[in-house]
Amino acid sequence: MKMRNKRVLAALAALVAVSMIATGCGGAKTADTGTDGAAAATKITIGIGAPLTQGAVALGQGMKRSANLAVKQANESAAAKDAGITFATVEGDDQGDPKTGVTVANTFASDASLIGVMGHLNSGVTIPASKVYNDNKIVMVSPAATNPALTLQGFNNVFRVCTIDTVQGPTAAEAAYTTFGYKTVVVIDDSTPYGEGLAAEFAKKFASLGGKVLFSEKTSDKDTDFNALVTKIKAAKPDLIYYGGIYNAGALLSKQADDAGVKAPMMSGDGCYDGEYIKLGGTQVEGDYCTSIGLPVDKLPAGQAFIDAYKAEYPTDDIAAYDAYSYDAANLIIQAVLKVAGEQGADKVLTPAGRDAVIAAVAATNTEGVSGAISFDANGDTTNKAVTTYQVKSGAWTPVLVPGE
Ligand code: ALA
Repeated sequence: MKMRNKRVLAALAALVAVSMIATGCGGAKTADTGTDGAAAATKITIGIGAPLTQGAVALGQGMKRSANLAVKQANESAAAKDAGITFATVEGDDQGDPKTGVTVANTFASDASLIGVMGHLNSGVTIPASKVYNDNKIVMVSPAATNPALTLQGFNNVFRVCTIDTVQGPTAAEAAYTTFGYKTVVVIDDSTPYGEGLAAEFAKKFASLGGKVLFSEKTSDKDTDFNALVTKIKAAKPDLIYYGGIYNAGALLSKQADDAGVKAPMMSGDGCYDGEYIKLGGTQVEGDYCTSIGLPVDKLPAGQAFIDAYKAEYPTDDIAAYDAYSYDAANLIIQAVLKVAGEQGADKVLTPAGRDAVIAAVAATNTEGVSGAISFDANGDTTNKAVTTYQVKSGAWTPVLVPGE
């Protein structure tokens, strides 16, 4: 590696390290004795890996809030006190960027008190980061990474509580073709593993149903000017635009298409399911569609309790697409740690055998979370395959196709 690159990497690592804000107190402890003679709690850290300053920040900040809420509640519980454990969180801002994500993962791995990671959001970040976690016996539960490849790497430590794009893409195509009656589509993706994969799954199913893909085109998740593409879309006169990508670029594409007189609405996936899409796109995105993972939070049995606890903790923040999933993901790690601490003792959780046992406990999950029933198949994928379709109506994402309704 050239010296200059090394320096850039070192500077980046330092920046990431500085931006990681540890909560909780003290360093990793094994069950030592406090000044009053009582055994001090063992500190167990959960990493929060998410885009916090760049990329899908609205989703990433929601993930952070929800994991912190789960940890706060755990620390107030008798179960953690009885087990002799204090949970802490450490934030790693992956910026939605694969290289930064790996730097975050390595920084997490250098923390001896860190047992697991709630994260990441972007599949393009989560896949390379998961390798670092696998190398270090760190359990990873992603609330949001939907590209199928994540759980096909043969890693026993990798789980996700969201369903995958081989479910989401075809569900969107069925909705578009069969329910809403769109027969022609232009398919755009943002060249990320998530956007490419989702758009390809959508296009495959749309065509198999009898729909026509007029053309497909790649963009970048950093693009802001889509005018050349919009001219091409206008000439093709599609019934629908399908976009695989995140809201930052997606909203601008839809807005610019509308401004240029393209009549077709845009449909996208979970990466666009946030109020930021509507803020960025304005009235021009009215009528657009997206799919997102799971059921709307207020339709879930444990949803109201989550909403109440969330609003009490974060009165001014909206619940974002992956908040219930992030809360559940953090809780799975917490429950696994408490189980292993109960069986082996708190001081064993961070040993290699304890780490293996935590991974095995997450794999054996069979519980009701806020997001619904949670258990994992052999790959670490959730068995909950619910996907909801939303439409922008009167300036808000509104559920229009809810599973079971
Ligand atoms: N589901 C999106 C991804 O996998 C956020 O990147």
